[in-house]
Amino acid sequence: THIRLDNLRVDKAGHRHFMAKEIAEQPSVLRGALEFYSGPGDEAPCLPEGVDFAAAGRVVLVACGTAYYAAQVAKYWFEQIAGIAVECDIASEFRYRNPVLGPRDVAIFISQSGETADTLAALRHVQGRVGQVLSVVNVPTSTIARESDVALPIHAGPEIGVASTKAFTAQLLVLALLALRAGRDTGRLDADTLAAHLRDLAALPGFMAQALDRGEALRDIAAELGEARDVLFLGRGPMYPLALEGALKLKEISYIHAEGHASGELKHGPIALIDQHVPVVVMAPRDALFDKTMSNVAEVMARQGQVILLSDRAGLAEAGPGIAHGLAMPAVPDLLAPIVYAVPAQLLAYHAAVYRGTDVDQPRNLAKSVTVE
Ligand code: G6P
Repeated sequence: THIRLDNLRVDKAGHRHFMAKEIAEQPSVLRGALEFYSGPGDEAPCLPEGVDFAAAGRVVLVACGTAYYAAQVAKYWFEQIAGIAVECDIASEFRYRNPVLGPRDVAIFISQSGETADTLAALRHVQGRVGQVLSVVNVPTSTIARESDVALPIHAGPEIGVASTKAFTAQLLVLALLALRAGRDTGRLDADTLAAHLRDLAALPGFMAQALDRGEALRDIAAELGEARDVLFLGRGPMYPLALEGALKLKEISYIHAEGHASGELKHGPIALIDQHVPVVVMAPRDALFDKTMSNVAEVMARQGQVILLSDRAGLAEAGPGIAHGLAMPAVPDLLAPIVYAVPAQLLAYHAAVYRGTDVDQPRNLAKSVTVE
């Protein structure tokens, strides 16, 4: 659908673009969503009636675009936190491949608009074939919200920029809460660990604000990306979908060719692209997989690739000299990393696009909501 920006009541609140405003809003958006889902005590997320993973055989996550990358992050969470097997697919693939479904499956559809044609068709396909149909949506009156058994609003407020930003991090927050609820329902997550995760989530808005502050340092790095023809993004574990999202954001609004890859796949192909002209953005908090990612970074540097490392201070110190640029992110709990690292991914794309002078809020050929197949 075509959105007439001049007719909207939403304004840019002093920002040059809606996208900049929406990136900046994330601390307050996430604070609002956390408040909405917080219960009287802090022993469990307060989710709508009907959400129940106790008997879940599998979780099936389906979405398009940026929402699909949120689904990919959530796959790691449901498996690690709740021990539930996860199927995760792009809606346009899922709906045409006769997916094997069962009465104990919990299907979750993620969509900012709630009107994406492929996601809606996939939802209609599972109806009557799975135990429960949930949706994670920004527009509570949308078709996807209305046709699911339970709709969980992300409370991101209107998102005008075609490239999704605050909706992505708000989707991730709601999916994290669902994974925690699933962990409690299956009995895999003990009360203390659950309480610790909820305390971590309560600190999320503050970490997002820190990431925004530090992200200012990305302006110059983004100008370098703006001169590149190709850019690679690498990540492992839950940071792998973030690499995909970083590449998607960059190509959507700056029109620079960008690819995201799992760090471990580098040697199976993408490394052939690397020379001194290819910036490689590595998203790697100092977590259990950090050393493995650093060995991939060494492979990139050995081929004169320009490494832009997004990590915390401990990670940057371990990486040592040789990286072209480092961005010191706040050190965050593992659960929060994919949400907090979305900020530098968004800012790199935003500043690269501003540098190139593209139409940031309404990039060519793209629509905010794809209601046709
Ligand atoms: C379009 C938008 C993307 C969005 C995708 C899915 O491609 O440009 O930003 O991620 O649709 O949209 P949805 O509303 O279902 O989240």
